[in-house]
Amino acid sequence: MPIPATPYIWFNGKLVAWESATVHVLAHALHYGSSVFEGIRAYETPQGVAIFRLRDHTRRLFDSAKVYRITLPFSGEQINDACHEVIAANGLTRGAYIRPVAFRGYGEIGVAPKIEPPVEVAVAAWEWGKYLGHESEAEGVDACVSSWHRVAPNTLPAMAKAAGNYLSSQLISLEAKRLGFAEGIGLAPDGTVSEGAGENIFVVKDGVLLTPDLSHAGLGGITRDTVVKLAGTIGLEVRETAVPRELLYLADEAFFTGTAVEITPIRSVDRQPVGSGRRGPITEQLQQAFFGLFSGATPDRWGWLDGVEFPAKARAQAGA
Ligand SMILES: Cc1ncc(COP(=O)(O)O)c(C=O)c1O
Repeated sequence: MPIPATPYIWFNGKLVAWESATVHVLAHALHYGSSVFEGIRAYETPQGVAIFRLRDHTRRLFDSAKVYRITLPFSGEQINDACHEVIAANGLTRGAYIRPVAFRGYGEIGVAPKIEPPVEVAVAAWEWGKYLGHESEAEGVDACVSSWHRVAPNTLPAMAKAAGNYLSSQLISLEAKRLGFAEGIGLAPDGTVSEGAGENIFVVKDGVLLTPDLSHAGLGGITRDTVVKLAGTIGLEVRETAVPRELLYLADEAFFTGTAVEITPIRSVDRQPVGSGRRGPITEQLQQAFFGLFSGATPDRWGWLDGVEFPAKARAQAGA
């Protein structure tokens, strides 16, 4: 989908014009994938725009960087501030998707050069709708199991949200779309379910939520964790465990979770209906609890919402 440009991107410590946030074609990350990133949403709430689980995303950004020994020249606080700044400066009063990225920039060529290329950091934000289409939230999506598996644990670390891992995601998602599905599901190297190309997965069987545990090549999703915590408040049992592929066909309900897809029902897998072939009641209950965090219907007992202060001019333009 096209990216709706905003006036500014935070780039290496300051706001620059959207079109000036560029990198050299010999940047290390472009050749060797040495980049880590985050995807964060900010929602419109009755109290104004709030960033969802910002500190958890920033922590994961630094964790991903640590795995690859990428040292960010900024603190977590500075990245948090940058996320606030791009929303406020761009007047994104209706919510936003925020994309922080840190990467090895232009310096020397070579996989592991003697002199470290400088680490560059950018944070962009723009308005963004539903990742898998507008109807997906209520109607659900058709998914398939990909012929491409997720990475084995001794190859690339799945828990790091690093650009290179998205080569696997691209193979899975491109194959799915080529075959007419909305999304592809990757299996772990042991043949059990891992995750979607860009989202975690849950199945519901006999009232219990099952999701692959983190030894099955999936990302430790923040939405996944949100669902686990919300399920606890509703009194639903959650098991993080190995999920056999056939459970996708035998489940009563299934859904994807992720910052982009939020909670998206899966109505069929490999052209077999999941349960009744439409959004199930537990999925709907969890969606209500999730979106209730932003409408105020679900109390934010975890302190997950981080209110954004807008300059007076942006507030006036938004009619606030
Ligand atoms: C491969 C992959 N798995 C899972 C997720 C879900 O993670 P989160 O809920 O933190 O967005 C994402 C999205 O970031 C992803 O790219």
